[in-house]
Amino acid sequence: MSAPLRLGILGSGKGSNFRAIADAIAAGTLYAEARVVISDVADAGILDLARERGVRAEFVAPGKFKTKLEPESEHRIVELLRSADVEIVVLAGWMRMIKTPLLEAFPRRIINIHPSLLPKFPGLAAWEQALAAGASEAGCTVHYVDAGMDTGEILAQARVPVLPGDTSATLHARIQVEEHRLYPEVLARFARRE
Ligand code: GRF
Repeated sequence: MSAPLRLGILGSGKGSNFRAIADAIAAGTLYAEARVVISDVADAGILDLARERGVRAEFVAPGKFKTKLEPESEHRIVELLRSADVEIVVLAGWMRMIKTPLLEAFPRRIINIHPSLLPKFPGLAAWEQALAAGASEAGCTVHYVDAGMDTGEILAQARVPVLPGDTSATLHARIQVEEHRLYPEVLARFARRE
């Protein structure tokens, strides 16, 4: 059997998708290793989760921009991912656009999960966009990352209904249940070297 898939995880938030991935690794359903978790938010929950699980946790100050990283910060992230010998970069609640040099350092090796059925509702708070549009279903999409906003090639999707009385919180929670199932499943394909 080949070696476990070496993952580098980037996240800005609470890290529930990272937790699902780490749980799948621990359960043996995902033959992978989380080599490093990197955040642009110093006190992000995802960094605490990484430390709890004995995974290297690194904060990289993002610089002055709101929606992207300063080039020096992106260089630092590339360095960290390379020094951890990462094969696949997993965006798990990462809230900034990815540019060069990161895109060029990991061509077709950066993936993201987005809380909508792309190409519908790219961008922020996609579940709120779905509610506001009166959609009858919502879901999540795992996709390759390219230079656009949530535009890369789609790897897999999962659907959930929008129910009468749904709030932003109930709909997002329903979508996240599917995210936590789908993301480890897609990564397992990479781990099987398919
Ligand atoms: C998820 O809804 C994901 O789809 C989006 O950001 C959220 C991250 O949640 N990209 P978590 O930090 O993994 O809990």
